[in-house]
Amino acid sequence: MFKAKDLLGIKELTTEEIYHILDTASNFKDVLKRDIKKVPPLRGRTVVNLFFEPSTRTRISFELAAKRLSADVINFSITTSSVVKGETLKDTALTIKALGADFVVIRHSSAGVPHFLSRLLDISVINAGDGANEHPTQALLDLFTVLSYKRKIKGLTIAIIGDITHSRVARSNIYAFTKLGAKVRLICPPTLLPSEVNNLEIEVFNNLEEGLKKADVVMALRLQLERQSKGFFPTLEEYFNLYGLTSERLKLAKDDAIVMHPGPMNRGVEIESDVADGPQSVILEQVTNGLAVRMAVLYLLAGVKK
Ligand code: CP
Repeated sequence: MFKAKDLLGIKELTTEEIYHILDTASNFKDVLKRDIKKVPPLRGRTVVNLFFEPSTRTRISFELAAKRLSADVINFSITTSSVVKGETLKDTALTIKALGADFVVIRHSSAGVPHFLSRLLDISVINAGDGANEHPTQALLDLFTVLSYKRKIKGLTIAIIGDITHSRVARSNIYAFTKLGAKVRLICPPTLLPSEVNNLEIEVFNNLEEGLKKADVVMALRLQLERQSKGFFPTLEEYFNLYGLTSERLKLAKDDAIVMHPGPMNRGVEIESDVADGPQSVILEQVTNGLAVRMAVLYLLAGVKK
């Protein structure tokens, strides 16, 4: 069923593969409710977390997922590694492979780095976020979370608000939700809309109130100020006034709409605290579900013949 040795992006996955990962994650979610949460499938395997960009949720949940599956885990620290002495990514990756790693989980500021490692190495490579390209396990955990509330994806209206241009989460979620039959709306200033959306089956709104109407799922995205080299909007206050998700604006979505955010949040910029901590927020459940989803990904890739 699961044929590729790597998970590089949602773009490369079939609908069947996506559902297979989600079904497997559902089984692992049951395992995580037991008193003893550790299972043996990855005993004797080694997972290396190779993060060239900061992370809280993704790095910790990959580490915990690997440990719950009984794998050995190495967290590679860039600042204390030979990368600071000028060692290349290629030599770093080959060194990790020579030490006997079975999986490399890679986050990097440059799009395409996981694909480069996939060609270089005969072990499994998992994309934990590459530049503004993709963040596939985030989209999988988002699908999982929506399914747990709505019991379906097909026909839902998913409103994604904010910095689409710089967001790998937006890209992976656009691929994921459209593949599974949802209607995706992007709500953002024209300056934060990438040109490639013309080729995608989505609706675009520059007006937040219009875009929120009758949405089933409202997903706020972080303003990625670290990736913005020029002024895409006048001030953060101006951005919040036009695109900040407030309780008042949320009333325009369906009464049972859920609120999502991949984290980390800029409270008071893209989302108001009342909404982030409110009754419709499933933001912390997204984090919890990420563990089961990453266990599923590691487990399924371990079963692929290399
Ligand atoms: N959602 C996400 O990727 O968060 P981190 O940057 O904390 O891993």
